[in-house]
Amino acid sequence: MTETLLRIDRLQRAAADWNHRFSLFRVPGRVNLIGEHTDYNNCPVLPMAVDRDILALAAPREDQTVMIRDANPVFGGLSFKLDYEITPFPTGSWGNYFKAGIQEMIDSWRDLPYDIEALRGFDMVIDSTIPPAAGMSSSSALVVLGAMAFLSSNGIEISDSGQRLLLADLCAQGERYTGTQGGGMDQAAILLAERGSALKIDFHPLRTQPVKLPEGYRIVIAHSTVEAPKTQQTMEAYNRRSVECRLAASLIGRFLERTYGIDGIGYIGDLTTEKTGLTPHQLAEAADQAVLPSPYRIPRLAESLGVSLREAEQMVGSMGKRDFIEPDDGYQVHRRLAHVLSEWSRVEQSAEALEQGDAQRFGEYMNASHASCRDLHEISCPELDELTEISREAGAVGSRLTGAGFGGCTVNLVENRRLASYFREVGERYYRCSKGLEQWDRHLFAVDPADGAALLEKDIP
Ligand code: GLA
Repeated sequence: MTETLLRIDRLQRAAADWNHRFSLFRVPGRVNLIGEHTDYNNCPVLPMAVDRDILALAAPREDQTVMIRDANPVFGGLSFKLDYEITPFPTGSWGNYFKAGIQEMIDSWRDLPYDIEALRGFDMVIDSTIPPAAGMSSSSALVVLGAMAFLSSNGIEISDSGQRLLLADLCAQGERYTGTQGGGMDQAAILLAERGSALKIDFHPLRTQPVKLPEGYRIVIAHSTVEAPKTQQTMEAYNRRSVECRLAASLIGRFLERTYGIDGIGYIGDLTTEKTGLTPHQLAEAADQAVLPSPYRIPRLAESLGVSLREAEQMVGSMGKRDFIEPDDGYQVHRRLAHVLSEWSRVEQSAEALEQGDAQRFGEYMNASHASCRDLHEISCPELDELTEISREAGAVGSRLTGAGFGGCTVNLVENRRLASYFREVGERYYRCSKGLEQWDRHLFAVDPADGAALLEKDIP
């Protein structure tokens, strides 16, 4: 039996007492090749869906209960009731990702009945091969799966690309239910990916373009073994960066308003010639003049933005969707802006390099991206830095952290003919010597670009 059939068999056994006819869903994880912490600025990203995924059997129920089991008995199960406002589980529960996707559908999917009593819950059993807390979007995969299974249980199947785009946008918005102020990369990669290609994604409006990977190379994932769950500290550190970037946009927006009478700048991604009518040179100058190198505190923010102290605090609070708390070292607006602007241009240039099959050039952008993530956005950690260095020495043409950072995985571009020695050297030096591990296959593996999420089959006993 192939691995997929074995997994389906395991799912069927775990669901045997339910006595339904099930639908089979597959929802992939994703790895971001380049464009880190750019999506929440409406700047582009270049990820791919991977052949690590969640398989799930789901069937509608007559009532409003949602019941989910993991085929792996370690995680157990959970259940909740559909409602106009579904109360979250305690922070950190994986069930909140399901609730996030479903809540957003209840709030926003237009063809659903408005009356909660008319909606149907579902029974579901899942089996995942996406490493959790690794920066491979295991959580967004749950959001998308929850939304798709809920829609399907209520007679709505996602068929055309317009619906997929809408669902991706809604799932991105919906995931904020869990407390992260994330962008839309993960949900878009998961829903819009095409087998065999990476995906350049632009936002606002959401649009995608498949990008071929260079022939003769593989994408290799290496987990630092530092877990970075999107809860507590990591979430705070992530959300802080999103606020700092919004502050950069506000400061530049204010400058453009005063200097050129241009308004409507909400995100760094709005700083384009099309939106402002300014040349790239004028935009770069505006950014330079509007955002000063030293960290920002409330008094200087208030003065630069032309608002009162109280208004500045409220503004920062609403950007972070929480009460205002100033970081001890102040807001690092200048560094974050420098990261996002340079990363944005690396994404555009990477897409070009990949179109031309230029693996070496793409690898250089990956390496530069890691340095910028480490020094300017400050989302790396010593383990990720060590792992990327060892990877390059072991022959990767490009190596960088991937995903939210603060731990999790690196993504590496490795030539096929160097794969065996690459695996050997990274295994020995990082996993055996640094981490004291004897086995590392589950941490170090190659992935291929996979299809987006889909309902694969119906009517399964
Ligand atoms: C997480 C978020 C994404 C994106 C990445 C960083 O995965 O969910 O929206 O911001 O971090 O690039």
